[in-house]
Amino acid sequence: MKKNSKIFIAGHRGLVGSAIVRALREKGYENLIVRTRQELDLADQRAVSDFFKQEKPEYVFLAAAKVGGILFNQRYQADFLYENLITATNVINSAFVHDTKKLLFLGSSCIYPKMAPQPIKEESLLSGPLEPTNEGYAIAKIACLKLCEKYSQQYGRDFISVMPTNLYGPGDNFHPEHSHVIPGMMRRFHEAKMKGATSVTTWGTGTPRREFLHVDDLAAALLVVMDSYTGQDIINVGTGEDVTLRQLSETMREIVGFDGEIEFDTSKPDGMMRKVLDVSKVNALGWRPTYSLVDGLRATYSWALANGIFSDTPSTQGKQSAAV
Ligand SMILES: NC(=O)c1ccc[n+]([C@@H]2O[C@H](COP(=O)([O-])OP(=O)(O)OC[C@H]3O[C@@H](n4cnc5c(N)ncnc54)[C@H](OP(=O)(O)O)[C@@H]3O)[C@@H](O)[C@H]2O)c1
Repeated sequence: MKKNSKIFIAGHRGLVGSAIVRALREKGYENLIVRTRQELDLADQRAVSDFFKQEKPEYVFLAAAKVGGILFNQRYQADFLYENLITATNVINSAFVHDTKKLLFLGSSCIYPKMAPQPIKEESLLSGPLEPTNEGYAIAKIACLKLCEKYSQQYGRDFISVMPTNLYGPGDNFHPEHSHVIPGMMRRFHEAKMKGATSVTTWGTGTPRREFLHVDDLAAALLVVMDSYTGQDIINVGTGEDVTLRQLSETMREIVGFDGEIEFDTSKPDGMMRKVLDVSKVNALGWRPTYSLVDGLRATYSWALANGIFSDTPSTQGKQSAAV
């Protein structure tokens, strides 16, 4: 990408899209094109095609998607499959028709089989059955990464796909029901602190291991991949390191400053025992994450406080416990 290249960031108000915009601006890219959903509904094929015909972006970061926590993914599988399929195929096909030089599609580590060997290598794609609770989302992502691959194979187009691990950071969704693990847990600990609760209860045994990447590290990786990778293979992006959910909740307690107990509700399911990506391919391109989990969580908590994400009024009610 040149500093004056025309770059379209689809989904620029989301967690990932906003981090990409920050990273591009920091590096001096100024010719950025963004559209809100009200200005351009990516589910509208005609509107997307007209937009590409008019704007002719040279580079596209495709970070628009319907994203949600485990409960929403499970409950609304048809919506997750349909909306993710239609929005991404509209963008990818228009980029093809209107000669976009390079497109980077954001997939997810959910595309890998439930029983894939850990750490998960890119080669595990389509090697076994998917996790049923997010099958709709995963199938849409797999179809779209394959569409990029096929445009590359059949027409020699530079359309590539990146599979990030679990992300967190400024701009995350802190909704009490729709959020991912980190923002949901941060909210619960914060609310427990403000209420003066004596304990916070987390689901499961606390022993499953998960990997988390700060979204600004992801954005830096996407710029490296956009600039230095061409090929039909998908690329994982993560830290390559995992922590137990017990370690995560203890770290969160310390950062938020909650001084109560953490209880584990072992009657609730644990889910997969381990999920961590093999990141040797992206590391070979010269990228490494810069945030430790502690620093990343601390920065995210400060951002959430500064941006009024939580209510900061201490409760005058008596002590009680809160569930994570
Ligand atoms: N968050 C994670 O932990 C994670 C992990 C791995 C991969 N990813 C991938 O990274 C990508 C971005 O995720 P994210 O976490 O940044 O999601 P997000 O915060 O929910 O942002 C998604 C953005 O897409 C926009 N969008 C969705 N449908 C649209 C439509 N029909 N027309 C126009 N805009 C539309 C949304 O607009 P509105 O604001 O109007 O809704 C939102 O700004 C996704 O492909 C996701 O699969 C995310």
